[in-house]
Amino acid sequence: MSAVTTTTTPGDAVDQTAAIEARNITVRFGGLVALSDVSLSVPPASIVGLVGPNGAGKTTLFGVLSGLLRPQEGEVFLGGRKVTGSAPSKRARLGLARTFQQLELFMGLTVREHIVLGYRIRHQRNRLWSDLITAGALHRSSTEERERVDHLIDLLGLASVADSGASVLPLGTARRVEVARALATAPSIVLLDEPSSGLDGHETAQLGAALRSVADEEKVSLLLVEHDVAMVLGLSSHVAVLDFGVRIAQGTPDEIRNDPAVRAAYLGDDEAVEGTGTTIEGSTTDGSTTTEGTGTDEA
Ligand SMILES: Nc1ncnc2c1ncn2[C@@H]1O[C@H](COP(=O)(O)OP(=O)(O)OP(=O)(O)O)[C@@H](O)[C@H]1O
Ligand SMILES: [Mg+2]
Repeated sequence: MSAVTTTTTPGDAVDQTAAIEARNITVRFGGLVALSDVSLSVPPASIVGLVGPNGAGKTTLFGVLSGLLRPQEGEVFLGGRKVTGSAPSKRARLGLARTFQQLELFMGLTVREHIVLGYRIRHQRNRLWSDLITAGALHRSSTEERERVDHLIDLLGLASVADSGASVLPLGTARRVEVARALATAPSIVLLDEPSSGLDGHETAQLGAALRSVADEEKVSLLLVEHDVAMVLGLSSHVAVLDFGVRIAQGTPDEIRNDPAVRAAYLGDDEAVEGTGTTIEGSTTDGSTTTEGTGTDEA
């Protein structure tokens, strides 16, 4: 099984084993072609990276996968099931979770309560709403729920802040809370929207280690949309590269590092193709340092 499809023609059989698959996606905004016949397949229990220079179409593809954008052409499959026209809420019920570039944490809830909420969204939908109406009921947990929530708290390195209000946390910790909450919904795939944006080097390393543990211990796939190329190459088993709406490369991190088209796209000139010994490791797609958020992604 190839991790990222090489070629997909519309008549090909759907990859029933893929956690999520985009086939021949084209998105136009007026005259601008934001994505042109792009295919991507994320196998189960794997980390796949999606990178590319500014304006390459990463966020647009993310929107197509999560259901915020409907492509003019192409299809999206979640666990082998066609969801191209389905709302984000339906995709969530089918096992798609996502984190947002802008933090989406609730004031007044602790870290643990955020993760309990994620759990109940999936496992006890009716109780969730009665809990939210009768304040305080959120504290009554089943043994199964407590064990799962405790496990996620440990896995994401949140034990020391489990009972702290989420709104007072440093950004790097808050991002890990979002990942834990997403995992609590028992997804088959989590889309991570530039999770390292705005983090310093230490926080980025902590997040990377947490995502590695998640991939090793949970039966879940992660699709990382990132500006931090070094982080993506370090974490992913496969990486797809977009440039001007076209998938210009896909493969293992080593294949991506050595791909002349990728180096040309990142370095912006023919020197890269001729091979100057310059590598894209440690660089970011927009040329900024990894310690600063780009603020360019989804609103
Ligand atoms: N809603 C929209 N209306 C019109 N054009 C859009 C819209 N969203 C994106 N675009 C354009 O589509 C192209 C792809 O944008 P997209 O945001 O997907 O790129 P990106 O790879 O996420 O870039 P960045 O790294 O800067 O976040 C760009 O040229 C962008 O200006
Ligand atoms: Mg973007």
